[in-house]
Amino acid sequence: MASEADLRARLQRAGQQHLLRFCAELAPEPRAELLHCQRAAAACARPPGPPPDLAARLQPLPPERVGSASEGDPQTRRLWEEEGLHQIALNKVAVLLLAGGQGTRLGVTYPKGMYQVGLPSQKTLYQLQAERIRRVEQLASERHGTRCTVPWYIMTSEFTLGPTAKFFKEHDFFHLDPNNVIMFEQRMLPAVTFDGRAILERKDKVAMAPDGNGGLYSALEDHQILEDMERRGVEFVHVYCVDNILVRLADPVFIGFCVLRGADCGAKVVEKAYPEEPVGVVCQVDGVPQVVEYSEISREVAQLRAPGGGLLYNAGNICSHFFTRDFLRMVARELEHLLQPHVAVKKVPYVDEHGNPVKPLQPNGIKMEKFVFDVLPFAKNFVAFQVLREEEFSPLKNADSADRDSPSTSRRALLAQHCRWALRAGARFLDVHGARLPEQPSLPGSAEPPAICEISPLVSYAGEGLEEYLRGREFRPPLILDEATARELQP
Ligand code: UTP
Repeated sequence: MASEADLRARLQRAGQQHLLRFCAELAPEPRAELLHCQRAAAACARPPGPPPDLAARLQPLPPERVGSASEGDPQTRRLWEEEGLHQIALNKVAVLLLAGGQGTRLGVTYPKGMYQVGLPSQKTLYQLQAERIRRVEQLASERHGTRCTVPWYIMTSEFTLGPTAKFFKEHDFFHLDPNNVIMFEQRMLPAVTFDGRAILERKDKVAMAPDGNGGLYSALEDHQILEDMERRGVEFVHVYCVDNILVRLADPVFIGFCVLRGADCGAKVVEKAYPEEPVGVVCQVDGVPQVVEYSEISREVAQLRAPGGGLLYNAGNICSHFFTRDFLRMVARELEHLLQPHVAVKKVPYVDEHGNPVKPLQPNGIKMEKFVFDVLPFAKNFVAFQVLREEEFSPLKNADSADRDSPSTSRRALLAQHCRWALRAGARFLDVHGARLPEQPSLPGSAEPPAICEISPLVSYAGEGLEEYLRGREFRPPLILDEATARELQP
């Protein structure tokens, strides 16, 4: 390890000597800790320049790489679902949650998965996810007459590991077997100013941030997660983000589609809502599939139309991926070092010249992040799978002061979906006077549902099996269909 003098010289060469400003004041322990962080800071690359002009190299995905959950014939969809359930029943499918983010836009001090958006049941994102895992295990078990497990891998960071582990323990792992919930931690990187100088968060601490959700690949290696998967016989992994309240964990239709196509890597996509929508676009660059960030696509290109009239670059990435274990192994062992970090502009708390802590009101620094989707170009057989936004995507990114991707929009999206499911299954809702409420089965995701209805994932994973409880029945909202109510309603 480099001596302190060496480190001083290296920091000087890297333009980071300011980091040692308060070093002499510190007691031995924080001083040693600071020097350790600064080694990482000295090694930190300066941010890459602006992205090259992509316009001429861009193409939409060819149709043969794209499947759809909603278009096409129902029989093919059933085939995919059967295949997915079969693989789940064979214990070959795991889910992997990316939960290392700091959730700065939402602005809570605890991990986002612990957030509850105000559902009647008061369930948190973590609980909804746990219950969807239990339900999909049950569906596969019933179909194939065997007990099965979908292990839940949870990537956390220095910020989220402690509180997440405690929360799961306090909630008895939401009735999952703790042996099948595997938490591991991603790495951290220093945050830097716009001119590339590492930031002191305290006199004795360099500001560090998790290395992005693409930190997954080195974290898999660091914690021998792929070996754990191999021991359990897991072949296929569904990787997803913590903040999508509608996420279908281990979605059998998606898994089945990818498996039957022989894909090594897949991405769920939704139709972009409007040309400038800030989502990454799944497309091809020089013929190679990848996600291009919205900030890299010009307005003109974003507005281009396909012959059918829809947007040419229409496939919005929703951070829901299929990977084979073999593909993950190849990336983690051989290709991870090729992933380029991206620059994220953030507000980074720091200490001023005099050592006083400052909470900036405007972004003052950048964090270097790798993205989980940056591995798409390494796939030998990449496929995209288009799903309906109102059924599968409503992310929680912002506080309620924003008009999109907030607790309110997430809550409404889930309740509107459950109302649609109930109406489709034959339920009718009455107002306080006993008059029937209007039925609007094609309700858009963002609107207030006509009736408050929440269906536990333990009763229905994706709207299936509700007729036996709801057909021909009238309800005064709110209808909370949990396991106990379902038992009472059973004919
Ligand atoms: P976001 O990019 O939305 O970041 O993460 P965030 O940290 O949750 O929120 P902001 O930007 O600070 O407001 C998308 C997904 O990637 C995970 C998040 O937990 C979320 O599931 N993530 C993000 C990680 O697992 N690690 C990271 O370093 C960053």
